[in-house]
Amino acid sequence: MSAEVPLADDERQRLVDQYAQIAALAGGLAHEIRNPLSTISLNLELLVEDIAQGDSPRDRRMLRKLQTVQRECGHLETILEDFLRFIRVGEIDLERTDLNEQVRQFVDFYQTEASAADVEISPHLGTDLPPVMLDLTLFRQALFNLSRNALQAMPKGGLLELQTCVRDGWLELSLIDNGSGMNEETVKNIFKKVFFSTKPGGTGLGLPTVRRIVESHGGRISVDSAPGRGTRFTIAIPPAPDSSVP
Ligand SMILES: Nc1ncnc2c1ncn2[C@@H]1O[C@H](COP(=O)(O)OP(=O)(O)OP(=O)(O)O)[C@@H](O)[C@H]1O
Ligand SMILES: [Mg+2]
Repeated sequence: MSAEVPLADDERQRLVDQYAQIAALAGGLAHEIRNPLSTISLNLELLVEDIAQGDSPRDRRMLRKLQTVQRECGHLETILEDFLRFIRVGEIDLERTDLNEQVRQFVDFYQTEASAADVEISPHLGTDLPPVMLDLTLFRQALFNLSRNALQAMPKGGLLELQTCVRDGWLELSLIDNGSGMNEETVKNIFKKVFFSTKPGGTGLGLPTVRRIVESHGGRISVDSAPGRGTRFTIAIPPAPDSSVP
């Protein structure tokens, strides 16, 4: 059994610097890969257009193979984009705002995608919420990742509730879906492992990115889920300094 020993300040700083160095290195690598990859993608697209003109069996075979390579290229591009978003969470630009207003704006923006998936979004916004400090772009990204997961868990449609309230002096936002839910093993893995996914083609960076965003706001995220019943993700964020909390 191992007991956690608190880190001395200089040791903590050394680890933070080391992390920043590795993150910068990994981000640089992802950038370097992205440029040649988009050249490959572009040329593949031109090749596919060319081959699609021919109608011999050889042309059709080549077309199928090229389309497979094209799909894999697209997958690599998605992984790189998700990874770059994950790395960028370090740069945070906070402003004082109203959580309910941000949730309302998100619902307006996300309504079309939800309706197309036959999902009804139902906001239940608490009253008298104190202001919060949010990076609006990152916060929207977190809501987007959570809502997209919810939609993917309800392939036949369903209900996605967004609730806000104040609990123990913190602001809480819950996203509740009545989709497939998760078993214990999945719940254990989602925040622990980066690149953990149960979806074909899933990158597994969605929730780790949400967690980094929430923690960079001084907040925390928790989950409650049961197979066949649905999932509730709850984000808790401290109120803005100098605000009076009911
Ligand atoms: N609302 C939800 N309902 C059921 N399962 C969920 C939900 N949200 C997340 N999960 C599970 O958690 C896993 C990890 O989610 P995460 O968003 O990190 O990655 P992903 O959705 O698989 O891929 P991507 O990186 O494209 O988002 C999912 O594969 C899924 O198994
Ligand atoms: Mg996801």
